[in-house]
Order: sequence, then C-alpha cells, then structure tokens
Amino acid sequence: MFEGQVALVTGGTRGIGAAITTMLAKSGVRVAAGYSRGQDAAETLQKKLEAEGGAVSIHQGRVDAPDDCARVVTEVMDRFGRVDYLINNAGITLDKTVRKMTHDDWQNVLNVNLFGAFCMTKSVLEHMIERGSGRIVNISSVIGETGNVGQANYAASKAGLFGLTKSLALEMARRGITVNTVAPGFIATEMVGKIPQAALDAVVEKIPLHRLGRPEEVARVVRFLLEDDSGYITGAVYTVNGGLDM
Ligand SMILES: NC(=O)c1ccc[n+]([C@@H]2O[C@H](COP(=O)([O-])OP(=O)(O)OC[C@H]3O[C@@H](n4cnc5c(N)ncnc54)[C@H](OP(=O)(O)O)[C@@H]3O)[C@@H](O)[C@H]2O)c1
Repeated sequence: MFEGQVALVTGGTRGIGAAITTMLAKSGVRVAAGYSRGQDAAETLQKKLEAEGGAVSIHQGRVDAPDDCARVVTEVMDRFGRVDYLINNAGITLDKTVRKMTHDDWQNVLNVNLFGAFCMTKSVLEHMIERGSGRIVNISSVIGETGNVGQANYAASKAGLFGLTKSLALEMARRGITVNTVAPGFIATEMVGKIPQAALDAVVEKIPLHRLGRPEEVARVVRFLLEDDSGYITGAVYTVNGGLDM
C-alpha cells in the first residue's frame, strides 16, 4: 500500500518519532527522519532500519529555523524525489509554573512545537499542492486539551496545533491534502522520563488504563491516517491516551 511513498518525520530518530520512522519504514515507506542534536541516535536508527531492508535518510536541522526546514526538504527531494507525508513530531518541554517561567522558556517551547510545525509545513506545502496530494499529521498532546501545572508554554503550543491543523485542513481540502492531529497522552519516552517518579506515579494513577502508552501505539495511529483508505479524514484529532481525557 505504501510502496514508493515518502514520509518526512521531524524528530524522527528518538522516542515517538523513532517509532513512527520504524513503523513506516517497515511498511515500505521511504522515510526521511529529521533530528536536531542527536546525531548518534539518528545514525544508529538509520543503520538498524537499513540493515532490515528499509530506505531511511537522516537530516539535521532545527524545525524552528526556516532556512533549516527549506534545506532539509531540498535534501529529501534530492534523495527521494517527493514528499507524500509530513509528520510534525519534533517537540520539547521546559516545565515551570507561570510565576517561574521566563520569556525565553515560553518562546523556546512555542518556537519548536508550534512555529516549527508551521515552518516545516510551509517548506513542503507547495510541493504537495503541485502534486495534488499529501498527508500532514501534527503530533499534539492531551495537555493541549487539559492544560497542566508547570506546562503553560507546552499546553499553549499543543493547543495551537489544533488550530493550525483545522485551519490548514480547511485551506487544503480542495487540494487533495489532508491535515490531522494525533494527541498522545503520557508515552514512555525520554520526554516523560524527565518527570519525577512520584509525579509520574500520580499521573499513572489517573489514567483509566493504568499505564503509560508505548511509542508504537502512537505510531500505529499515524500510519492509519496515512493509509489510502483514510483519505476522507481531515481536520480530526485522534487521541491515544489510555482514556485520560474522559
Ligand atoms: N512522550 C509523551 O508522553 C508525549 C505525549 C504527548 C505528546 N508528545 C509529543 O510527541 C512528540 C515526540 O515526543 P517524544 O516524547 O518522542 O520526545 P523526545 O523523545 O524528547 O524526542 C523529541 C524529538 O524532537 C527533536 N527535536 C527537539 N527539538 C528540535 C528542534 N528544534 N528541531 C528539530 N528537532 C527537534 C529531537 O531531536 P534530537 O534527538 O536531535 O534532540 C527528538 O528527535 C513531541 O512533539 C511531544 O510533545 C509526547
């Protein structure tokens, strides 16, 4: 189903992004995985997936730097000749209560998580419009719906992705391009590893399914949204959170 298709996954070499890269590569998608600082992780993942027969390229660049986004897309076009799917997955946290949060803490998180998705989208959009097809999936968070103590910057950035998704979905509806959001709950990655154990235990207690999610459980939903038969889904939010928002 995915033969010949090309995906660009930002933050695609660690955590949820690595699971998306892996699942897509194993499904026959040619995957360009972006990263910012983690060159070793990127090279290790690429080697592993290529050894298993996958077609994977890795691309260094900051999603919040428009020149980097343009360069990364050029690199992907040079390597694979097209971009069918864009997964805006790169994200960071800088958790503090609003009283302690600096302007930089706010700006950095908004830049990577929200402006980054906008920048990368701008860089591939004309190409998708020219081809009359494309799928864009933005990775938001349950925190964008609920808010969270110490995460005003993160919650605002992730709530912003809901608005970006819906607006772009409307703009692109007649162009053959769908735009959707996947909103994970608490998933076992390095990002969640930064939460103190006691706080994490309290979170798990509140999750109806009583466990953290696995990165692969998010990747499955992303892959579903990229399938040919999912072409009637646009502007939607898919939650993967163990029931946390009920
Ligand atoms: N884990 C969760 O519980 C959870 C829940 C809801 C939503 N999410 C969202 O899911 C996405 C992935 O999260 P994760 O837990 O997998 O995080 P992670 O393990 O910390 O990985 C983050 C990825 O983003 C990349 N990145 C960070 N800043 C970047 C920048 N300026 N430019 C380009 N790439 C950058 C990192 O690249 P380097 O390796 O080079 O640093 C890394 O590949 C994020 O958007 C996050 O907000 C996560």
